[in-house]
Amino acid sequence: MTLEWKKDFLTGLYWQDEQHKELFKRADRFVRAVDERHAALEALELFAFLDEYIVTHLDAEEQAMTTHNYPAVIEHLAEHTAFIEDVARLKKQLTTTNAADCSIALSALSTRVCDWFFDHITTVDKEMGEFIRKAEARTRAKA
Ligand SMILES: [Fe+2]
Ligand SMILES: [Fe+2]
Repeated sequence: MTLEWKKDFLTGLYWQDEQHKELFKRADRFVRAVDERHAALEALELFAFLDEYIVTHLDAEEQAMTTHNYPAVIEHLAEHTAFIEDVARLKKQLTTTNAADCSIALSALSTRVCDWFFDHITTVDKEMGEFIRKAEARTRAKA
């Protein structure tokens, strides 16, 4: 399986789109590795990326939502928290699992990252990004 980037994924908010593209690239590499059965090493690289993504990207979105009084901030952050918890659980599962269960854990990680892309980034992030982009444009127009 490969993931295909679509223009439709763009929110129009430059920094958010650039960070989403990077996650997409990493997720695609991991999903291919799962298919090709050499995903264990790739999973470690994906977790290293996700550790940073959680700190930089999710914090940047939280900051933008707070700054511009985004109305659905509570619901949005609840999805971030669920993702952070799932990544931590999957990381623990993969580092403690035996070889026989490893492919199940890798598939679970692949599914969660793909779901994150299609159920969060292309929906709620897109709504939020469009809201922030318009709010920033209004702020610039007033200055
Ligand atoms: Fe995002
Ligand atoms: Fe988000």
